[in-house]
Amino acid sequence: MNLDKNKLFSLADSIRAREKGDKVYLRGIIEFSNYCRRNCLYCGLRRDNTKLSRYRMSPGEIIKRAKEIAALGIKTVVLQSGEDPYYRLKDLTGIVSRVKELGVYVTLSIGELSAGAYRELKKAGADRYLLRHETANRKLYEVLHPDGSFFNRVRCLYVLKDLGYEVGAGNMVGLPGQTDDMLWEDLLFMEKLQPEMVGIGPFIPHPDTPLAKEKGGTLEQTLTMIALTRIILPKANIPATTALGTIHPEGRELGLKVGANVVMPNMTPQPYRPLYQLYPGKICVNEDPDACLPCLKRRIEGIGRTII
Ligand code: 5AD
Ligand code: SF4
Ligand code: FES
Repeated sequence: MNLDKNKLFSLADSIRAREKGDKVYLRGIIEFSNYCRRNCLYCGLRRDNTKLSRYRMSPGEIIKRAKEIAALGIKTVVLQSGEDPYYRLKDLTGIVSRVKELGVYVTLSIGELSAGAYRELKKAGADRYLLRHETANRKLYEVLHPDGSFFNRVRCLYVLKDLGYEVGAGNMVGLPGQTDDMLWEDLLFMEKLQPEMVGIGPFIPHPDTPLAKEKGGTLEQTLTMIALTRIILPKANIPATTALGTIHPEGRELGLKVGANVVMPNMTPQPYRPLYQLYPGKICVNEDPDACLPCLKRRIEGIGRTII
């Protein structure tokens, strides 16, 4: 892409300042199960990765952790997992309603479900749903997702919207076979969908996946996509993602300077934290589960912003 990057970044930053202000929104994430029935080529949680030891948190453990997050003053709890059919719909609605009672916003990130399941979860109190579209190029999508279809992904996103969820889409940057034209497709897709949230991160090759030997996405490409997304969706909530913080020690701060306005401290308890290994080198996994919050506060204040 032949763009003047400095101008692009400062334009995106000024739109972020105008539309979202200087406050950085926190979303505490609990990765409650690393079981997944799918086999996405890029992901360390894919079902064929037999090297990973798997865990599931019980509903009681999840609710206890959500309480601790709420007590720390975090206003949004994100419940994320692989696509794990072990939890029945009534388990999930039970968890959601108990977490909702804590007076927080509840965000789910548990993959593709039926419209009926999404409806019940909404009724139970879920406010938001993260379901990245991963890539808007249908062919690339279908190569990377041997057991999924782009059509169903898109259908899920529109069903979620219709049900009144705030919806989070987003893509990975630097996927094998991904061209600049395909990144423009991502932007056009999001301009049409008008998601309330957009998560963008670099692809990071995982050694125990079929893409082990591929190159990963770069800092510059990822920052460019964040900035363009801010321009196309001025009001969106855009996180500076953990993957961005993984490929560069100041990746998240840099993201926050080119359009991002959200960070998602990893609040998953030990001993599970290192096991939610979507990609290698993931930051924060050996820390105390309460360490990310003060760390992020310090980092955010270090770039002249404040947390909310
Ligand atoms: N590199 C970067 N991001 C990844 N994800 C999964 N695997 C990888 C990887 N190897 C992302 C996907 C998914 C999100 C939870 O994590 O975009 O939606
Ligand atoms: Fe499962 Fe999500 Fe990983 Fe795909 S990206 S294998 S659906 S956890
Ligand atoms: Fe997790 Fe710094 S954000 S330790």
